[in-house]
Amino acid sequence: MDAEGWDERYADSELVWSGEPNVFVAAHLTGRTPGAALDLGAGEGRNAVWLALQGWDVTAVDFSAVGLEKARRMAFDAEVELATVVSDVETYTPVTQVDLVLLSYLQIPDEHQRRLLRRVREWLQPGGIVLVVAHDKSNTVGGPPDPGVCYTLDQTVQALEGLRVEVAEVAQRQTPAGVALDTVVLAVRD
Ligand SMILES: C[S@@+](CC[C@H](N)C(=O)[O-])C[C@H]1O[C@@H](n2cnc3c(N)ncnc32)[C@H](O)[C@@H]1O
Repeated sequence: MDAEGWDERYADSELVWSGEPNVFVAAHLTGRTPGAALDLGAGEGRNAVWLALQGWDVTAVDFSAVGLEKARRMAFDAEVELATVVSDVETYTPVTQVDLVLLSYLQIPDEHQRRLLRRVREWLQPGGIVLVVAHDKSNTVGGPPDPGVCYTLDQTVQALEGLRVEVAEVAQRQTPAGVALDTVVLAVRD
């Protein structure tokens, strides 16, 4: 879906996703030392705002201006600072290296995933981490109908070659419709 499609989707409802962070984001990032963080495809900001509440200095990037407007509102309500950048993640480059890059359900085609993740490796400070949480290609519960924008463990880990992989699993996520399957990869730049 393009930026216009996401703008329409976000304009249609109060919150498309919940205001709570994704379960794997919270599980893998709780207790980590905060620093500079990038949330790529941040949408309405549930993860970005949660990270800011944990003390991270967060920049939320998304090509949906409507989504990011909602993220700013969520940050205001939570009384945290949030920088937002309306941009296609595929052309975005941060001005300085960061301590965390998060991709949470960023639905882009395989080759685009690979290109972006290879660039992300260069954006990390030593000790910095990248966390990818995405609909796995094997998932049949919720998520986009097009498996072409879903992820696999192999492709994700391969694109992050050179980083130390701490977590690589197809994780089960309970939803009202059943158990969804997510690719979850966390890798560290040593
Ligand atoms: C499924 S939503 C996930 C939102 C958020 N990460 C979360 O977990 O709640 C996907 C988001 O990625 C954004 N997105 C998709 N492709 C993008 C691209 N090429 N550049 C920037 N944002 C993109 C969409 O606008 C949308 O907000």
